[in-house]
Amino acid sequence: MDRPAWAPPEVDLDRPSPARIYDYMLGGLHNFAVDRQMAEQVIAVAPEVRLAAHANRGFLRRAVEYLAGAGIRQFLDLGSGIPTVGNVHEAARSVAPDARVVYVDVDPVAVAHSRAIVAEDDQVTVVQADVRDVESVLAMPELHDALDLKEPVAVLLVAVLHFIPDSDAPATMITKLMDAVVPGSYLALSQVTTPPQTLTPEQQAAAERYTKANPVAMRTHDEIAGFFAGLELVDPGLVDPARWRADDDKVGGMVSSFAGVARKP
Ligand SMILES: C[S@@+](CC[C@H](N)C(=O)[O-])C[C@H]1O[C@@H](n2cnc3c(N)ncnc32)[C@H](O)[C@@H]1O
Repeated sequence: MDRPAWAPPEVDLDRPSPARIYDYMLGGLHNFAVDRQMAEQVIAVAPEVRLAAHANRGFLRRAVEYLAGAGIRQFLDLGSGIPTVGNVHEAARSVAPDARVVYVDVDPVAVAHSRAIVAEDDQVTVVQADVRDVESVLAMPELHDALDLKEPVAVLLVAVLHFIPDSDAPATMITKLMDAVVPGSYLALSQVTTPPQTLTPEQQAAAERYTKANPVAMRTHDEIAGFFAGLELVDPGLVDPARWRADDDKVGGMVSSFAGVARKP
């Protein structure tokens, strides 16, 4: 296929990426045929996945607004994704105009678009890095230029942990991140959960195709709750992202992920 002018040269146009599939599910434009094809295969057998993507994005916005309302002025958004409507810096600044944000993503398309959107913005920094290499992330000069780690920080790991298998020790990664920030900091995360119901053969086949390209670590409610060890979950706890401090209760259907926000005591 023709390479769009906005696609960084290192991007493999033949391999679907979680960032671009998610962008497509949200109605974004920064995806390729291979991503759309994969997304449509999943939507065809599990249309609720698209709703789940929107619900996750809604959780992200409400969590950031809550955190800014709680006095947080610094956000470290790990696995930040391709910018679409309602980015973290916009949500934070709707409450706290002086909020600073560091976006970190491993995907070159996500990084290129984030940089383009905030090129003239000295309150927002964009870095390409793999969050699994947490020591390197925490040592990045860009992070220290942008954030004062002597002041509270909100660490966001929203819809990214399921791309980090247990073999990469996500719980240890989170402990290291939260050890690096002062008391009064927060962790906000969401992650895909183990489906409560048996998948149909069609759903199973689509899931296998997706996870072959991008392995997904589904986790139970208890396993996800374990990521908040040593932290104080704020109300309403670890719940369906659509229900986390939602202003209406027009949600329902299958719970496909859990989301929560916790404070470091
Ligand atoms: C589903 S998107 C979520 C985007 C955003 N956080 C949100 O919830 O709207 C997942 C993002 O995590 C990124 N990601 C996956 N593994 C990562 C890793 N090891 N390090 C950094 N980013 C990663 C992907 O590139 C993708 O942009």
